[in-house]
Amino acid sequence: MQQLIAANWKMNRTAKEAVSFIKKFKKLVKGVKDAEIVICPPFTIVELVSKELKNSNIKLGAQNMYFENAGAYTGEVSPIMLKEIGCEYVILGHSERREFFNEDNSLINKKVISALKNGLKPILCVGETFEQRTQGKTDDVLEDQLINCLKDVKEIKDVVIAYEPVWAISRGNPNQKAATKADAEESHLFIRKILEGVFGKESAISTRIIYGGSMKPENAKELLAMPNIDGGLVGNASLEPKSFAEVVKSIK
Ligand code: PGA
Repeated sequence: MQQLIAANWKMNRTAKEAVSFIKKFKKLVKGVKDAEIVICPPFTIVELVSKELKNSNIKLGAQNMYFENAGAYTGEVSPIMLKEIGCEYVILGHSERREFFNEDNSLINKKVISALKNGLKPILCVGETFEQRTQGKTDDVLEDQLINCLKDVKEIKDVVIAYEPVWAISRGNPNQKAATKADAEESHLFIRKILEGVFGKESAISTRIIYGGSMKPENAKELLAMPNIDGGLVGNASLEPKSFAEVVKSIK
């Protein structure tokens, strides 16, 4: 299957910075055909980035959305609006949204269903905190998040799962350690088993499960070489064209 490498810029980059990034980045990944490359900028520059990415091998995603198509929801953005400006993907259920904006599985589930209904491909984030991991609850947390966020989803083929152990996310610290390739692989395999139980073997095998949490040029190759790691969701290392291009070029 084609690996997917997505940039999660979080609340970073102004219009001017984004244009300069894309100019350089496009050149660096020009020949790359084996990976699906996605950039998820902040809302204010999604449309600008969309224009800059025209006729390139780079796709566009958003970092969040609301589940209603329109209405009195001050401050929110709808799937229709994202589709209109060229988004193909949308990150949903990121741990920072769960932690800082109180998103729970039931809200994320509504968003996943709405995204699919409107032709957007969700990148659904799941992952345990450090505390949950040390208490031996990793599998329970992953199972709970997957089952509840994917409730009533009929077809998994357009969904990407991002395994993002919260304790490995850099939060801007370039020295933060990622999960080891063995630990990441173990969770990816577990996630695939859960998907198999719900959607069947064939669907589980063809669903991309990508890794996020301090993926960077130094560790991307070994993580992406693991059999059940099908790509990456990259935060800090996606903010500079050179390091993000190096991650993209680390695909197996
Ligand atoms: P990071 O972020 O690569 O900076 O750890 C990944 C993410 O939170 O999606």
